[in-house]
Amino acid sequence: MTSHRIALIPGDGIGTDVSDAAMQVLHAAAATAGFSLETETFPWSCAYYLETGAMMPEDGIETLRGFDAIYLGAVGWPDTVPDSVSLHGLLLPIRKAFDQYANIRPHRLLPGVEGPLKSESFDILCIRENTEGEYSGAGGRVHQGRDNEVALETSVFTRKGVERILRFGFEQARARRGHLTSVTKSNAQKYSMVFWDEMTRALAGEYPDVTVSHMHIDAMAARMVMAPETLDVVVASNLFGDILTDLGAAIQGGLGFAASANICPDRAAPSMFEPVHGSAPDIAGQNIANPIAAIWSGAMMLHHLGESAAAEAVENALSATTAQGIGARPGSHSTQQITDAVIAALQG
Ligand code: NAD
Ligand code: IPM
Ligand code: MN
Repeated sequence: MTSHRIALIPGDGIGTDVSDAAMQVLHAAAATAGFSLETETFPWSCAYYLETGAMMPEDGIETLRGFDAIYLGAVGWPDTVPDSVSLHGLLLPIRKAFDQYANIRPHRLLPGVEGPLKSESFDILCIRENTEGEYSGAGGRVHQGRDNEVALETSVFTRKGVERILRFGFEQARARRGHLTSVTKSNAQKYSMVFWDEMTRALAGEYPDVTVSHMHIDAMAARMVMAPETLDVVVASNLFGDILTDLGAAIQGGLGFAASANICPDRAAPSMFEPVHGSAPDIAGQNIANPIAAIWSGAMMLHHLGESAAAEAVENALSATTAQGIGARPGSHSTQQITDAVIAALQG
């Protein structure tokens, strides 16, 4: 029987609730489809930091490297550990170390879920650059605490980094409805974003079957609310993609619905799967977090592992569940009730 080795990092807050829900569903899907998931759990989190002084052990990245995929709940508990420590100690180094440069985030309404918009027929695939740009970590502070203090946060856009994410976007567009929207702010940012636009134009000639639109991030935010059905594949930098995908989550019914895959496309290292949302300290430990985003991210992991039939079965089970009104509206069902309904739909 095929077995896939999964590193499971539940993390903090609702990360533990929703990753547990996702694992229940994924194991059920694997049993039905005839393969197994061999999971090893790593307790790396803010609690782990408070005990050990680090978010993960020094050889954490090397430990993860041997797995077929990584599944992460969510990281962050800002009341006790600053986000600048927790996220830079775990989530962000994993994305970077494993060159998971393509962050794929689908936004569409599941059946029975009422989004906040008039338009219900959108199906957007956001491709977020995931290893450089505004998240490069370059910069510093001088004259700290003084009147003349200056803080610099330098965005780094390399030719290699921009070209590969744009190509990834073009390929995704080619496999879908053939439209790519490239998001920049090249009217205000005159180096990185102008470079990004130039690269998009240069590559467009190689993908004559893909139509390309250039949009500024501000206009794009409005477009996602006013006319999301006009969008197909959207490609954006790290920070712009981060912001647009919480907006995407909102139009698909809330953060509890938005899935995410951090892909290392050449498969030289493991990819990581996690919901778009964070650890939600305001609802943690109450069995009320919506596990759908986490389960959907798990389906993306199965797809990546080559288990496409099982991935589709999980996606269909999610649709069947929300179509019955279970998990479709905030607060109507507990985390475990939604999970049980997905498993029942999967097995039924
Ligand atoms: P958040 O996504 O955790 O929460 C924002 C709001 O959405 C909250 O009101 C929350 O209750 C709600 N929400 C989120 N997920 C939900 C779900 N599954 N079901 C129902 N409601 C849900 O964002 P935040 O409050 O800005 O961040 C909290 C912590 O998580 C911070 O430490 C932040 O840095 C971290 N964070 C981590 C990740 C990650 O690990 N991938 C992602 C985003 C934020
Ligand atoms: C996300 C999160 C992270 C990001 C944070 C927690 C660093 O918001 O995955 O969307 O900005 O990438
Ligand atoms: Mn985010």
